[in-house]
Amino acid sequence: MNVGIIGSGTMGSGIAQVAATADSKVKLYDTNQAALDKAKASLEKILNRLIEKGRIDDAEKQRIQANISYVDNLKALSDSDITIEAIVENLDIKQKVFSELETYVSDDCIIASNTSSLSIASIASALQKPERCIGIHFFNPAPLMRLVEVIPAIQTSKDCLDKSEKIISDWKKVVAVARDTPGFIVNRVARPFYGESLRIYEEGIADFATIDWSLKTLGGFRMGPFELMDFIGNDVNYTVTETVFTAFYFDPRYKPAFTQKRFAEAGYLGRKSGKGYYDYSKGSEKPQPNEDKLLGQQIFDRVLVMLINEAADALFLNIASASDIDNAMTKGVNYPKGLLAWADEKGIDWCVNRLDTLYEIYHEDRYRCSPLLRRMNKEQKTFF
Ligand code: NAI
Repeated sequence: MNVGIIGSGTMGSGIAQVAATADSKVKLYDTNQAALDKAKASLEKILNRLIEKGRIDDAEKQRIQANISYVDNLKALSDSDITIEAIVENLDIKQKVFSELETYVSDDCIIASNTSSLSIASIASALQKPERCIGIHFFNPAPLMRLVEVIPAIQTSKDCLDKSEKIISDWKKVVAVARDTPGFIVNRVARPFYGESLRIYEEGIADFATIDWSLKTLGGFRMGPFELMDFIGNDVNYTVTETVFTAFYFDPRYKPAFTQKRFAEAGYLGRKSGKGYYDYSKGSEKPQPNEDKLLGQQIFDRVLVMLINEAADALFLNIASASDIDNAMTKGVNYPKGLLAWADEKGIDWCVNRLDTLYEIYHEDRYRCSPLLRRMNKEQKTFF
């Protein structure tokens, strides 16, 4: 299998490693020679670390490295069976690269984009043969995260979808097929993890440390929402939220929070700037949470039910299957359980009651219960 990867930054170099490890022959292309050199050097480092940890031996390292060549012109990708683009998130630039690429590759070469926020339909529209275009969305870091969202556009052929799913499975990744809608699965369903936590903070119910403590200790999440936003970067996380909110025609469920906007504006970006919701400078101490069980449970229940509502609504609108939605959250962002399985465990009636209680209090559309949960509750059904 010949694989062409366009863009050798964070994502492109990670995807190249995944494909090369699965013995595909990879050509990694970038316009910037320094980016190519960096990708090569960082792969060397990563593979050496894997040797130190005893995960691979030297022969395996040589094999993976020999499977990747670094190229500085797009034409070099002409013998690809599939190309995956991971360049800047700009529709015009992606469309230009795709229409040039199409003049070099064979008619049955799959042309995929790793975009997080652009519609696949808009990217595909630049091609003469848009039916060969598809979204193949990896998570960062690509070699470690098991999930890959595969997103057929309305133009995409069934053959292109089937082949793409097979290739990604052969690369030992878990595929979740998603409709071409804003945020696909993960970046849509995960929004309340941040948004509802920020709202709880803004109402003065609890501070960052207490909300993080509730979700980690009572919910089993690896990181609390504020720790995670600091890790991702408040600028990046805010932009994703704002993009999703705009793309959903300002549905209040996805409304960004002023708190996060101000933090981003102030340059309190999180770990990378040394300060975010927490202080990361040397010697600084983490604030202690209020470990009140009742308060913690209320916070966790409220965030969880909003996440469940989002997952249920994604199923209601046929964004993906129930198992793909649950896999996406456990394998894409390491949630301790799939949200729909969690809904079954808590009880659909519990979910509907919680949401209706929130709606009663606030009378905001943000808290509307998904029609699917309501119907299931009437019919006493479960997701699995
Ligand atoms: P990056 O900035 O690390 O890398 C982009 C690379 O593309 C750079 O090396 C740049 O020199 C190269 N490039 C720019 N224009 C080019 C062109 N016309 N032809 C060839 N190379 C070009 O970006 P990153 O973070 O790897 O993101 C790439 C894509 O992946 C974006 O579409 C982004 O939305 C998506 N993505 C990013 C994730 C992340 O966590 N960083 C996660 C999933 C998707």
